[in-house]
Amino acid sequence: MTKITPEPGAKAPKPNDPAASLAPGLSSGRPAPPGKRPAPPSKPGLRPANPNFASGPCAKRPGWSPAALAGALTGRSHRSKPGKARLKEVLQRTRAILGIPAAYRIAIVPASDTGAFEMALWSLLGARGVDVLAWESFGSGWVTDVVKQLKIKDARAIEAPYGELPDLAQVDFSRDVIFTWNGTTSGVRVPDGNWIAPARPDRGASFDARGVKPARQGLTLCDATSAVFAYDLPWDKLDVTTYSWQKVLGGEAQHGILILSPRAVERLESHAPPWPIPKIFRLTKGGKLIEGVFEGETINTPSMLCVEDALDGLKWAEREGGLKGLIARSTRNAAAIEGWVARTPWIENLARAPNTRSRTSVCLVFTDPLIAGLAPEARVAFARKVSAILEEEGAGYDIAHHRDAPAGLRLWAGATVETADLEALFPWIEWAFANAKDSLP
Ligand SMILES: Cc1ncc(COP(=O)(O)O)c(C=O)c1O
Repeated sequence: MTKITPEPGAKAPKPNDPAASLAPGLSSGRPAPPGKRPAPPSKPGLRPANPNFASGPCAKRPGWSPAALAGALTGRSHRSKPGKARLKEVLQRTRAILGIPAAYRIAIVPASDTGAFEMALWSLLGARGVDVLAWESFGSGWVTDVVKQLKIKDARAIEAPYGELPDLAQVDFSRDVIFTWNGTTSGVRVPDGNWIAPARPDRGASFDARGVKPARQGLTLCDATSAVFAYDLPWDKLDVTTYSWQKVLGGEAQHGILILSPRAVERLESHAPPWPIPKIFRLTKGGKLIEGVFEGETINTPSMLCVEDALDGLKWAEREGGLKGLIARSTRNAAAIEGWVARTPWIENLARAPNTRSRTSVCLVFTDPLIAGLAPEARVAFARKVSAILEEEGAGYDIAHHRDAPAGLRLWAGATVETADLEALFPWIEWAFANAKDSLP
C-alpha cells in the first residue's frame, strides 16, 4: 500500500490513540488574559429542553415520542402487501427529499451504515486500483478494510491528521475512490464535490489544458452517514452513497441505506470479486442485479418499528421544508456554535479551514494554555470530566470527543437539534469547564 500524507511528518489518525495528533498550531492555544483569574461563572438556571447532543444515535426530531410508532406494522410480515408498501414508501420519500435521480437505485440493507458501506466495498472492489481517503477514525477503518481485509494490492491511502483534509488533488479518478463526506470524529468534511471527476467528460471552467475534465473511470464510494440530510450532495459525482437513519434523521440504528448509480450497477453486473460474498452482502444473482432489493424486498428481515420511525423522520423532514429546511436548521445550529466559540477564549474548532467545518458533528478542542499543556491522557480525562459534569446535571449528554479523536468536545448540530437548546447548553459548558479546571490537581 502507498501512503500519501499532506506534509512530511504529519501523523495519520490512528484508532484508539488518545494522543492522536492535532493539526499543527492547534495545541498552543490563545494566551490567557493577563491579571487575576476570572471568577468562575455562576451555575446556569435554564437547561436545554432536550439535552441530547450525541453524534449517533442522534437526538430524535423535536416533538418525537413513542406515540409516533403507534401505527407500526408490528407482528406482520415485511413481505406482506402492507409491509412491502411501507418499505417502498421509505424509498420513495427518501428519493423525493434528497433529489436522488430516477436512474439511481436505493435499498434498505442490514447493519446500519457500516453494513451498507461494507456491502459496497465487498461487492464492488477488486476491478481496479483503489484510492482511500482518511482523515479521522471512520476513514481509517475503511483503509483497514481495503488493505488488511480485502487485501487490495494496488491501494493508496491518502491521509491527513485530525483537523485537516488530505490533499484532494492527489486523488486519481481512473481508480476507485473511497471517502467519507463528513468525518464524524474530527468534524472535518469535504467542502463540496468540485474535486470529483464527472461521470462523463465535462467541458468547461478550469479543467485540463484542453478545457476538458476527464471522466472518472473508477467508481466513487462515499460514506455519507453524517452528511445526508445536511448537505446537498452532488449525486452525479457519487456512485455509491451510504448512511444510517440514526444520524441526521434522528432515526434508529441497524438499518443502512445504500444508493447506487447506474455505473455502480454496471460494475456489480460485470465484475465478480475474487472473495466470497456472504448472503447478507449479496446484491446480484447469476451476474444480474437483484432488483427486488431496491424495491423494498430487503435481503433479510427489517424491524418494522424502525421502518415506522424512519417514515416519521421523513415526514417531519417534509414538514420542515425538505432538504432545504433541514440544511437551514443544521446551518443555524453550526453558526450558533461558531458564534459561541468566537466569543469564548479557551475553545477552538478542531477543523482548521472554515470551509471544511462540519455542520453536523462539530468538534472542539480546549486551547486554554493550562489544558492544552496537559499530558495527552490528562487532556482526555479533562474532556471526559467536563462531559460527566454536564451529564450529572442533565444539561448535556454524550458531548465528549470520540475515543479515537483528540481530546475535546463534540456537539451534534444536525437538523433534529434545536438552536435554542444549543444556546442553553453553552453557559453550562462554561460552568462545567470552570469547575473541571478548578478541580485539576
Ligand atoms: C462517518 C461514519 N461512518 C460510519 C459510521 C458507523 O455507522 P453505524 O454505526 O451506523 O454503522 C459512523 C458512525 O458514527 C460514522 O460517523
